[in-house]
Amino acid sequence: MKAKWISSVVLATLVVSGLFAADVVQKKMSPTEIFMRQKLGYSEKIVEGITLENYDLVISNGYRLMLMTQSNVWVETKDAVYLEKTAHYRGDVVAMVDAARASNTWDVLTAYTKVTADCVDCHQTFRREQHVKSVEKSQKK
Ligand code: HEC
Repeated sequence: MKAKWISSVVLATLVVSGLFAADVVQKKMSPTEIFMRQKLGYSEKIVEGITLENYDLVISNGYRLMLMTQSNVWVETKDAVYLEKTAHYRGDVVAMVDAARASNTWDVLTAYTKVTADCVDCHQTFRREQHVKSVEKSQKK
């Protein structure tokens, strides 16, 4: 009886640790994800630049967002729609940098809103997880 009890504890431990292992494997980020996540750090700096009216911060981090789109990792996807969305996003980032150069906080903010809309738009099309969700939502309507 005791042996049976112990073996079920051992079994439960194995199952739980197996689940943990699967979780760790799932959470390991791909090089693309790690690269893409850099956009978050730059965006945070841009929000700081807008809210504190530090235009240089907007300009330098806008440049960084731009440079990322010229990397091989960014253009791994050669899809025409992806390239079109990238061009549109780039245009909005440039408009944001120009507004920061002109020290116009409200224009920077407007441009930033467009840039963020581009982030969502591209992800809803090209990030599998978001694409599936957005299709499900549109079917419910
Ligand atoms: C033209 C397309 C496009 C635009 C615009 C874009 N992204 Fe992405 N983003 C991607 C792709 C493609 C991936 C990688 C998807 C994957 O591998 O799951 C990605 C991944 C990410 C990730 C990592 C997600 C994860 O699974 O860990 C973050 C964070 C992110 N983007 C933030 C942003 C932000 C912030 C912006 C706007 C400033 C932005 N993206 C604009 C295409 C885009």
